[in-house]
Amino acid sequence: MTFDRSIKIAPSILSADFANLGAEIAAIENQGCDWVHVDVMDGHFVPNLTIGPVVCKAIRKHISTIMDVHLMIQPADPFLAEFAAAGADIITVHEEAGPHLDRSLQAIRDLGCKAGVSLNPSTPPERLEYVLDRVDLVLVMSVNPGFGGQAFIPSQVDKIRKLRSMIGDRPIHIEVDGGISPKTAPLVAAAGADVLVAGSAVFGGGSFEKPARYGENIRAIREAALGAVPA
Ligand code: DX5
Ligand code: ZN
Repeated sequence: MTFDRSIKIAPSILSADFANLGAEIAAIENQGCDWVHVDVMDGHFVPNLTIGPVVCKAIRKHISTIMDVHLMIQPADPFLAEFAAAGADIITVHEEAGPHLDRSLQAIRDLGCKAGVSLNPSTPPERLEYVLDRVDLVLVMSVNPGFGGQAFIPSQVDKIRKLRSMIGDRPIHIEVDGGISPKTAPLVAAAGADVLVAGSAVFGGGSFEKPARYGENIRAIREAALGAVPA
């Protein structure tokens, strides 16, 4: 089976209404998102504190697409089993969050999940040279992790290009996260990204009671990305 490198939109629920996460997830899935991006933050690795395994378990039943869990926590290893048990399809750890990345990635796969690794803006792609065969996804941060609504960091486009060539035809997604909008989507898609995370650009202007705007926002990002990649 060929690897599906088509453009996917993964709304980040960090920008959703946290008092109505189930309804918000149903809304974005009904409005055409491909994955649901779940931002876990510990107030230590990043200067913000969001949700943990208990909330992930609670929202799992509302997700019929892919539960894409982004762990911005340090250490991550002690919690991998809990996030797998909560129902994560993909668990992504930060390259910077621990000394034994190869072991962490093996542990994620041993738990039956897809393994992802995320790079902060200052981390070069070469840091992944010896773990490419341990990963199913590389998450390039195009903002400094911790908050939604930040400005896109243009230097990351070159990193995506370098990663794309390092990966070659390995079945590895390149996901980009932070400041993705119809304006920046073409830049990252043209450089080789196939999964686009967007929080404020999807949830902005809509609500789960009035979800049509979510669909418009998702379509605008997708179409902008598709316009930049060869058909
Ligand atoms: C930031 C998170 C991102 C963030 C994206 O640390 O990992 O997923 O929610 O939000 P926007 O799309 O608004 O930059
Ligand atoms: Zn994220």
